[in-house]
Amino acid sequence: MAKLNVNIDHVATLRQQRLGREPSTFKAAKIVEASGAAGITIHLREDRRHIQDFDVYGIRKFIKTKLNLEMAVSRDVVAVALKVKPHWVTLVPEKRQELTTEGGLDVYGQKKKLKAIVKIFHEKKILVSMFVDPDQKQVKASAEIGADFIEIHTGTYADALTQTAVDKEFLKIKEAAVTAKLLGLRINAGHGLNYENVGRLRKLGIIEEFSIGHSIISEAIFTGLNTAVRKMIRLVK
Ligand code: PXP
Repeated sequence: MAKLNVNIDHVATLRQQRLGREPSTFKAAKIVEASGAAGITIHLREDRRHIQDFDVYGIRKFIKTKLNLEMAVSRDVVAVALKVKPHWVTLVPEKRQELTTEGGLDVYGQKKKLKAIVKIFHEKKILVSMFVDPDQKQVKASAEIGADFIEIHTGTYADALTQTAVDKEFLKIKEAAVTAKLLGLRINAGHGLNYENVGRLRKLGIIEEFSIGHSIISEAIFTGLNTAVRKMIRLVK
């Protein structure tokens, strides 16, 4: 049975718009755990546009499930990760100007550097996942450098506009997952997944955990708006 890991960066994005305290990522993480998710994902970006260092340290302290820290291989963020010791880190590429992560990490092209990073995390007993496109070359390279997991980038599948394109991307994910399994990697998947497109991937039966953020937080606005408005009406009446 696949598990859900909820990415709460989007809560921090809203908070950072006002540079205030609301909405609280701690409160969000507690509700996510209480709702049955298997873990929390946060992405400490180099530009700190949403998650801040105090979010990472704070959430790590009280989390009862598992913390997945997404991060680029930058000196400053690696230092935070080694101090915080999340259950696992997911290495992602990062571009300053992008709205969100735009694609998988080029593991194949950076094998030497990434193998050394994996070793550093393993020495601290932190598992390592590589966020990769559903590309055989990248999956094989992830196994070669000793990664524990891959997280298959599902963004292209999620954004595909025609059924033919969706099917083509689905097949790539399936083939990447099968190869990863044969190589002994554990398999997660995420990016752009929503209530409509996740089911087909779940049915593959070999994806351990789905990392989903945007669609859950979007849905939460509408499932929670009614209660929030009623609560304020009681106070202003
Ligand atoms: N996995 C990775 C590596 C990501 O960068 C993101 C977005 O921060 C997600 C999963 C979650 O994507 P979404 O917010 O589209 O569900």
